[in-house]
Amino acid sequence: MITQALEDNLPKAPLEIMIIEEALSYSLFAGGKRVRPLLLVLCGELCGAKKEQLLSSACAVEFIHTYSLIHDDLPVIDNDDLRRGKPTSHKVFGDAIAVLAGDAFLTHAFGLLTMYKNDLTNKLLALLIEGAGINGMLGGQVADIIAEKEKPTRDKLDFIHERKTGALIKTAVLMGGAVAGANDVIMKHLEVYSMKTGLAFQVIDDILDEIGDEKKLGKKVGKDKGKNKCTYPAVYGIDKSKEIASELTESASAELKIIRDLVLKTHLGKTDIINNAYEDLTILTNFILQRIY
Ligand code: IPE
Ligand code: IPE
Ligand code: MG
Ligand code: MG
Ligand code: MG
Repeated sequence: MITQALEDNLPKAPLEIMIIEEALSYSLFAGGKRVRPLLLVLCGELCGAKKEQLLSSACAVEFIHTYSLIHDDLPVIDNDDLRRGKPTSHKVFGDAIAVLAGDAFLTHAFGLLTMYKNDLTNKLLALLIEGAGINGMLGGQVADIIAEKEKPTRDKLDFIHERKTGALIKTAVLMGGAVAGANDVIMKHLEVYSMKTGLAFQVIDDILDEIGDEKKLGKKVGKDKGKNKCTYPAVYGIDKSKEIASELTESASAELKIIRDLVLKTHLGKTDIINNAYEDLTILTNFILQRIY
């Protein structure tokens, strides 16, 4: 369902510049886990929204994520040549087209949000700008680069991880809630859930960079140490990092249960959809902890 929506929403290019459409399609369909759009759709359903209403937002978030990966892999940032099990965009299309492909995803992501009613479009835009911009993912990427030249510390680590990965995951979850029209209390619980899940996600990403299997992961390992990145294993060691990720996942799961119980009190007619979304989210939250790719 998400793959179909991504295909339907992929920007079309005129013949003369078909290369950009090829570059977009290459990165988008290289086999990502789709964690962010899944979180958005499932959190939206958990709060009572219909799947069809959630798909444009889900695509917008996956577009932003894919742009961030293309740019993150560029020689001037992390200089990676493998992503989603394939050569990175700049390896195939060259640096210039890779930069522009990222820009295209970024631009079109915001366009997808214009399909909602005015008030909702404005809310979703505000969330996406917050999650993707200087206060969110982009800010985290800046801090990540600055930190390469400094000693890793806990404070820096939290600043980076909350933003470079946590912010877009938080935005995905909150956009799901916003489409569903969730009330402030539920939005607050969604925020807590998303922050714990987002941090767990990046802690595991850091661990996999050290002890993961390149073939399964679809990206090179051992890169963070080589670049003196500020990571959980660098600051806490592998065992403590695993412990932290487990604790985060446990409290994220507890938060999900609170949200489900709150929603069930008000959406009596949608019990099945809500319970199914809750179960799938529990599985997804645990997958984020236990994943090997
Ligand atoms: C990788 O994200 C980059 C981070 C923010 C850690 P994912 O692990 O979600 O990458 P894909 O989308 O599955 O390829
Ligand atoms: C990337 O973090 C975060 C964003 C792309 C915003 P990483 O640099 O750790 O991601 P990987 O390990 O290359 O996927
Ligand atoms: Mg990076
Ligand atoms: Mg990287
Ligand atoms: Mg990483």
